[in-house]
Amino acid sequence: MNMLNMDIVQSLRGRDFLGLADYTGDEIRYLIDLGIELKRKLKSGVSYQPLKGKTLGMIFEKASTRTRISFDVGIYQLGGHSLFLSSNDLQIGRGETIHDTAQTMSRYLDGIMIRTFAHKTVIDLARHSTVPVINGLTDFAHPCQVMADYMTVLEHKGKLEGLKIAYIGDGNNMVHSLMVGAAKLGMNIAVASPDEYMPEKSVQKMTRDFAQQSGGSLLITNDPREAIADADVVYTDVWASMGFEEEQKVREQAFANYQVNESLVGHAKGDYMFLHCLPAHRGEEVSEGVIDGAHSAIFDEAENRLHAQKAIMAALM
Ligand code: CP
Ligand code: NVA
Repeated sequence: MNMLNMDIVQSLRGRDFLGLADYTGDEIRYLIDLGIELKRKLKSGVSYQPLKGKTLGMIFEKASTRTRISFDVGIYQLGGHSLFLSSNDLQIGRGETIHDTAQTMSRYLDGIMIRTFAHKTVIDLARHSTVPVINGLTDFAHPCQVMADYMTVLEHKGKLEGLKIAYIGDGNNMVHSLMVGAAKLGMNIAVASPDEYMPEKSVQKMTRDFAQQSGGSLLITNDPREAIADADVVYTDVWASMGFEEEQKVREQAFANYQVNESLVGHAKGDYMFLHCLPAHRGEEVSEGVIDGAHSAIFDEAENRLHAQKAIMAALM
């Protein structure tokens, strides 16, 4: 291991993983590379159990398939153990403060993963915890997903720096993390959303600042064709995220011209790859032909949640 990596290993220990803005491009790249290495170990039957005897608490205030299973299996493969904690069953569901919950849980656990609504809840939890807190999705960000996404891009394309990723659709938690991650890694990201559903201004600014340092770039537009032109990676997500279901009908109208379909991907590079965090709604944000077509890497991407999060847990816990 070189000096830079040894410094990174030291700097990661005990940290929270709330959003990619808190991490340097080198740290993010180190974690992605570690994910690839842990994947290789697993596939070749080499056991790697640095978290023997450690327990991860997993708080869920929203539904999950991938996040729940990949964290659960991931910590088990690393030699540790997980606890699934539904907010319906915890005392936070009855009004116990985040402060007391964080302090109490820190006395039993070695790490906490949380999926919730307000990003502030995750920040408060981390502030009052003495063990690492990992963001498993908030309304604002989904950083673990993006680690798996860029790991998948690296595996398929052999590099990250200089690639163009186009995100078409809702300016939600997914695109916020994709933007920050791209800017940290020296990638060019183009986002097409309707005016009312743009990514938050603060994230646009942060992305531009990080991109200036890394050599990446950000394009924001209303025009899906402009965003997707010559893209190496095409990404979309649901039009109505968890917690916004009652806006489904209004959003279907607002996003009617933002479907990623055969005609739109005709403007991407010939060897573009398609990604979607899943769950997907075929026939809404993406056509069946694209998501199930030859360019789609959605199940490699879903698998990589496991490996990328093992890297995060192994490094932080
Ligand atoms: N992509 C993702 O986070 O999936 P789940 O909601 O199933 O966890
Ligand atoms: N934007 C989606 C992502 C799901 C993984 C949501 O928040 O529901």
